[in-house]
Amino acid sequence: MKITIADSEQEFDITAARRIVATICERPQAVIGLSTGRTTGNIHRLVCDIHDHLDFDVSQTTFFGLDEVTGVDREYAGACYTMLRTEIIDRLGIDDSHFLMLPTRSADFSVDCMHFKNEIKKRGGIDLLILGLGENGHLGFNQPGTPLNNTACTSKMDSALEARIRRETASPDDAELGGVTLGIRDIMHARRIILVAKGFNKAETVCRMLCGPVTPDLPASVLQLHPDCEFLLDAKAASQIDINLLR
Ligand code: GLP
Repeated sequence: MKITIADSEQEFDITAARRIVATICERPQAVIGLSTGRTTGNIHRLVCDIHDHLDFDVSQTTFFGLDEVTGVDREYAGACYTMLRTEIIDRLGIDDSHFLMLPTRSADFSVDCMHFKNEIKKRGGIDLLILGLGENGHLGFNQPGTPLNNTACTSKMDSALEARIRRETASPDDAELGGVTLGIRDIMHARRIILVAKGFNKAETVCRMLCGPVTPDLPASVLQLHPDCEFLLDAKAASQIDINLLR
């Protein structure tokens, strides 16, 4: 298990950003999966800052979003589509054909999920997947209790997360929010994963993810079984890890 602990939030952000940049420089046609949220915004902006200075080629790189909020228009500020566009995609000048997202609205999400996964497969599969960590251990919108072998699907939001999204993004009260996400099995097919977590609010979950059993009760625990997953943490998120219990 590879665990990297950054002393500061700045070091955390720059480490993750450098990993993304290095992947693109090594393999310009890389397929890179991104997560949205409080943990990844600065990382995305740093990738753009580095690109402003180094001007490496991103014209062949495909980016996709791990998951999406459903029940709102994708142009809405809280939709992952718009967050990723704002934080990284537009600044890098990525062409629409190289930015894959699940839809926020659909007559049949299962068809869209299939199409999304086929597009990723056609491009050679996932080279690098950056994963945020839910406070309850969710990955994407795969909530606790999700079977560890599920594939891309829609998901109910837990009420705490829904309340937070409503609060932070001022979604219209009448919008019924849900989620659509790559499944855990799809995530495990990524060639390389970096799980990013920062802050004391993630510390207990980080400890259970790394030191506890692999269980659907904590979807992120499945990453213990991935052959190339790096756990990138800041010192706060790492503060409860029990070294003696690491697997
Ligand atoms: C949401 C998103 C996930 C993200 C997670 C962590 O549930 N659907 O993709 O990884 O939150 O968010 P944060 O970094 O804000 O804690």
